[in-house]
Amino acid sequence: MAKGTKKTAAPKSAKPRKKPLRSHAWFGHPDRDGYMHRSWMKNQGYPSHLFDGRPVIGICNTWSELTPCNGHFRALAEHIKRGVYEAGGFPLEFPVFSTGETNLRPTAMLFRNLASMDVEEAIRANPMDGVVLMVGCDKTTPALLMGAASCDLPSIALSGGPMLNGHYRGELIGSGTHVWKFSEMVRAGEMTQQDFLNAEAANARSAGHCMTMGTASTMASMVESLGMGLPTNAAIPAADSRRSALAFMVGRRIVEMVKQDLKMSKVLTKANFENAIRVNGAIGGSTNAVIHLLAIAGRMGIDITLDDWDRLGRDIPCLVNLMPSGEYLMEDFYYAGGVPAVVRELGEAGLLDKKAMTVNGETLWDNCKDAEVWNRKVIFPMKKPFKPNGGVAVLRGNLAPNGAILKPSAATPKLMKHRGRAIVFESVEDLRARTDDPHLDCDENSIMVLKYCGPKGYPGMAEVGNMPLPKKILEKGIKDMVRISDARMSGTAYGTVVLHVAPEAAAGGPLALVKTGDWIELDVKKRKLHLDVPEAELEKRRKAWKGFTSPHASGYARLYVDHVTQADKGADLDFLVGKRGAAVPRESH
Ligand code: FES
Repeated sequence: MAKGTKKTAAPKSAKPRKKPLRSHAWFGHPDRDGYMHRSWMKNQGYPSHLFDGRPVIGICNTWSELTPCNGHFRALAEHIKRGVYEAGGFPLEFPVFSTGETNLRPTAMLFRNLASMDVEEAIRANPMDGVVLMVGCDKTTPALLMGAASCDLPSIALSGGPMLNGHYRGELIGSGTHVWKFSEMVRAGEMTQQDFLNAEAANARSAGHCMTMGTASTMASMVESLGMGLPTNAAIPAADSRRSALAFMVGRRIVEMVKQDLKMSKVLTKANFENAIRVNGAIGGSTNAVIHLLAIAGRMGIDITLDDWDRLGRDIPCLVNLMPSGEYLMEDFYYAGGVPAVVRELGEAGLLDKKAMTVNGETLWDNCKDAEVWNRKVIFPMKKPFKPNGGVAVLRGNLAPNGAILKPSAATPKLMKHRGRAIVFESVEDLRARTDDPHLDCDENSIMVLKYCGPKGYPGMAEVGNMPLPKKILEKGIKDMVRISDARMSGTAYGTVVLHVAPEAAAGGPLALVKTGDWIELDVKKRKLHLDVPEAELEKRRKAWKGFTSPHASGYARLYVDHVTQADKGADLDFLVGKRGAAVPRESH
């Protein structure tokens, strides 16, 4: 049994509930409305005693055959239900919009906020006292945490677990990371098209989400280090029976949380976010965690900013040797000790708030203080880390007045201080059309700049920031160049890539003014991103800028473009930010 899963203590912040449960407003009355609420539910075979006032647990399921990373969630939900029943609760599973990374166009991120609204309204409108959030593929985790945060019921997250390691021709291959690597090899003439296609099946060989330390694994680690999941949540492979056992324990625990009235706001405080930011640095986590944690904190009214990311991440070395920064995969991470072992390293180094609470009623530190490291090739010690700087660097300057980010552990050390001439792409279509042009005006010292791929511009801030290098540069054997954009990048990608430039080009940020041939200076140590163009010239360009008109005139995309905040604020919809809480809605009929 995972340490901590057997704990049932009530934290000091939680008092046994005195008020009737929220579900009482639906199921607890002997009148006409109570009759209707119970009667129709009974058509599914639920006996009368399940409506006797026991905790009703919503199981918020992101299962979809179009979200392959969450394709095993129907079976996993059954294990949660067993735990709920055993603890005396009444489980009711419900579906929400599933944001699968690989199929949704133009980008799953466009729908993160929509999914969070679905989650929020489904929880608020229905008879439930607590909720289990079944999360996996990238955006499903923040979407469900954001939606649940807006309702503030007792809530616990269960990640679906990573896929088993990919293997191809004697080599470990990682989700995403090897797609980028192999496709660049094909373009450079180092791999045949047939071998590229042969690698496909070997890359995704079991149920689960991406098994590199990409966004899904990072967010699963954030669930655990925020204290929103049980210990070992992040790394148990989806195919491992211990994942099902964990689901069972999650089901038991959420019933206790309801009895203790342990709401999400009693678990999550600023200290929890600070610990999660430090863990993100130590695991070499995805840059996408920045935007997602800002959005979750925003929903809870907790003041976390980009500066917190820089301040807290600056001294954190990367301890975990996982792709895309390293060589191993999540399955290895689990066997080596997983997140608990990393938390112990941080705690012993004085880099953890040891009072931060978790959903099992214990502190994160109490859950992890005895965790052991079983493989030092995968989890390095703090004294001799895998890489010196694991955190996220927040850059500022006249090119990004509200900030931009870069992941030092995924960058080329010699490019972290670099001055180069811009080669500008006005859109992702422009990039695709010209990258392989043999006459492209650039060399390996140039800085690639991509515009109009931010929250409003794309819309949805696609993962196109790790632009493919121009073919003529790849053919010289060059593997990295400085790249700058208002886009995001996949958590499985790597390179000296400046992302999330704010304000974005479509919002009139200075990125819109850059022209091919301009000089740009990047100095990560000084946290500087400077466009070396005189202010008078920039002002002239500002006046000549024609503005940005989104082609999306209606529907959700229009709502999104009109209301999305910038990357430094989490790219949430402005009217969803801030505390709201789940009142019982007015009666129907
Ligand atoms: Fe779903 Fe990577 S595509 S987690």
